[in-house]
Parts: sequence; C-alpha cells; structure tokens
Amino acid sequence: MIDTARRLLLEARRVAVLTGAGISAESGIPTFRDAMSGLWARYNPEELATPEAFARNPGLIWDWYAERRMKVASCAPNPGHLALAELERRVPEFLLITQNVDGLHAAAGSRRMVELHGNIRRVKCSRDGEPVESWSGDDRPPPCPRCGAPLRPDVVWFGEMLPEEEFTRATEAARSAEIFLSVGTSNLVEPAASLPWLAHRHGAKVIVINSSMEGQRSGDGILQLTGLAGELLPKVV
Ligand code: OAD
Repeated sequence: MIDTARRLLLEARRVAVLTGAGISAESGIPTFRDAMSGLWARYNPEELATPEAFARNPGLIWDWYAERRMKVASCAPNPGHLALAELERRVPEFLLITQNVDGLHAAAGSRRMVELHGNIRRVKCSRDGEPVESWSGDDRPPPCPRCGAPLRPDVVWFGEMLPEEEFTRATEAARSAEIFLSVGTSNLVEPAASLPWLAHRHGAKVIVINSSMEGQRSGDGILQLTGLAGELLPKVV
C-alpha cells in the first residue's frame, strides 16, 4: 500500500492535502476525540469553541485558549509535518489545507498552506475582527487597545463562517487535484469534511492516512493507509 501511495504521488503534478488533529498528536497535542486532559476534562470543545460560550463566559474561554496557546508554544513539528513540507517542495501544484490551529505546519516549513480554522497563536478584536499583536492589563479577556471590546482567539468557532479566501483556495485545489491526501482527520466537521469527496468526484485518487479507519470512507479510488502520521508520511514521501 505504501508503494502504491508512493507511485501515485511520484506521478502526480497536482496534490492537495487535508490535515486534522491526528497529525499533531505525535507532537503532544491532544486530538478533539481524545478525552480532554486536565482542567478541561469536564468540558466538551463543542461547548467551549462557540460565540455563545464566549458571550456567556468570556473569561473562561479566554483562559482555555490561553492554556492551549501555552501548550502549543511548547510543542514542535513532528516527522509527519516535516514530510508534508518536503512533499510541497517536490510537487509543481500543491496546497496544504489544515483544520489545525496549532501553527505546526508553518513551523515545519510549509508555505503553500491555508488554515481553515484560524490559528490559536493569533488574537483579534471581537468587535472588528482585526488582529491584535499586543495588549496590556490583567483583565481576562483583555480589552482591545483600539476600541476596548474584548479580545478573542483568531480561530473559527462552531457556527462561524470559515475565512472566505482560504476556503475558496481549498475548494479550487480539491477540484483540480490528481491526488488528495487526507491525514489525521475524523472527517466529521463540515465544510472541510467534504473536500476529499469534492476531489474524488473530480477524478482524484484519495489517500487516507489515519491511525484508525473507523468512520473513514473506502471504495474505488480510495487508498487507506492505517498507521501513525509521523511514521507513515515520511515513508510515503
Ligand atoms: P478529531 O479529533 O476529530 O480526529 C482526529 C483524527 O486523527 C481521528 O480520525 C484519529 O483516528 C486520528 N489520529 C489520532 N492520532 C493519529 C496519529 N498519530 N496519526 C494519524 N491519525 C491519528 O480531529 P479533527 O478531525 O481535526 O474544529 O477535527 C476537525 C475539527 O473538529 C477541528 O478542526 C475542530 C474540531 O471541533 C473546530 O474547532 C471548529
């Protein structure tokens, strides 16, 4: 199977990749499906990552993301991230589409990349959505230095729209890809979850890399490689 994946990628000129939390698991970042460790074990991301939760309890949501931001800052890209940065250098038309907000693909050297769900390392004004690099005071959340509205993480919450330009680039790449690689995603959250099947409908072969094929589609034109992204991706690339 790995040889098949290698041959398919070797011959491909147009490749699109969709990654999810599974590719960062080996960097030490828990996936959404794993029980959330520590203080947040009693919460569910779907309850915290929403505009309603932020309106109801902005301090709790700010603290949850501040803790995740510190966790991410101490994590490094793993061989899976590095392999995708290497693949990008070898393929004429390439786009990495990530649902992850941890910034590890950029840290690994990926450049032709879109972050569909934002980036936890960035903070923005909750009123006008403009990025804010620095803030002061001990309030949680801090007030926007420009207008005083509460600051928030620059990530897409449930029920919010994805960044338009990034999603347009992702759908164009999926439509034109010869190979669509889906790595470490449960492929449950729309609209990202439809991208592999958009590619498949346009004639792409879909290669799924996941530690478990539970819930993953199989069939013609779909190649499933079961294993850890940090081990399989370097072998394939
Ligand atoms: P999930 O936690 O839903 O799924 C993680 C996937 O990675 C599962 O299919 C696991 O089997 C797989 N996996 C775990 N460890 C792996 C490893 N070492 N190698 C390969 N695969 C591994 O995370 P996502 O699919 O990314 O959205 O979740 C999608 C979205 O739902 C997230 O972006 C987030 C979440 O709610 C928002 O917050 C809007």
